[in-house]
Amino acid sequence: MDLHARRADSFGAQAEAYAEHRPDYPVAAIRWALEPLGTSERLDVLDLAAGTGKLTAGLVAEGHRVTAVEPNEQMLSELVRRVHDVRALPGHAEHIPVPDHTVDAVFVGTAFHWFDQEKALPEIARVLRPGGVLAAMWIESDPNADWVTEFEQVSASSVESQRHNPTGIMSHPSFGPVEHETFPHTHRRDSPEAVIAWVNTHSRMLVVDDDERAAINHKMLAFLRERPETSNWPLDVPLRSDVFRMVRVSE
Ligand SMILES: C[S@@+](CC[C@H](N)C(=O)[O-])C[C@H]1O[C@@H](n2cnc3c(N)ncnc32)[C@H](O)[C@@H]1O
Repeated sequence: MDLHARRADSFGAQAEAYAEHRPDYPVAAIRWALEPLGTSERLDVLDLAAGTGKLTAGLVAEGHRVTAVEPNEQMLSELVRRVHDVRALPGHAEHIPVPDHTVDAVFVGTAFHWFDQEKALPEIARVLRPGGVLAAMWIESDPNADWVTEFEQVSASSVESQRHNPTGIMSHPSFGPVEHETFPHTHRRDSPEAVIAWVNTHSRMLVVDDDERAAINHKMLAFLRERPETSNWPLDVPLRSDVFRMVRVSE
């Protein structure tokens, strides 16, 4: 298995920690993504690569009928345990187990970069109704918070972070232009250890060896103990959510 495939499949080994330590998504981001549908009615929404249900829970809380699709068995079991009122199905973005033109919106939370886009985009277009929306979302550190930017450097592993500007790769004849918006967000952490546990759920930490992970964890702890900005706990870590949306055009 190549590194990309190993990383894409790495999350299940830490599914419980993932569910416990990863941030959720801002409600404003979900609402902005759905704006082109022009309605506040209950929608049929697909959460693709749903993981343990971080974004799924937000979509259900907004009152939508949600189908969650996720290939990793451990992630999907965690989702089923934690999020109720959702139809949960095993499946990949390249072969979505949903009939043609049956969903109003497809959401992808922090996962679009793992897909084989040449196969996934036509699949997403197939399941969406004309006028439906594809929204690819990411949670990023707030670039205006100096300590967070420096902390990211301290927590870097030998495996690169995924960087996300999918505007080019998302363009496809079945969709209109890509629109982009960012939303402020925070992630409450009770202790430096809880920040470190969160960082350890990223694929760039999951695939490195134990010695490298221990060395990075040691550096992160020293940083968090030394910096004045991280001396009071609980702490709201400043984040932002990047959302890229586009509308399915009629054929
Ligand atoms: C970083 S997690 C994001 C999970 C969830 N959407 C969230 O926001 O917390 C990435 C997820 O993508 C899934 N994944 C990886 N490759 C995929 C593919 N080709 N199709 C669908 N899901 C995939 C992984 O199993 C993992 O659950």
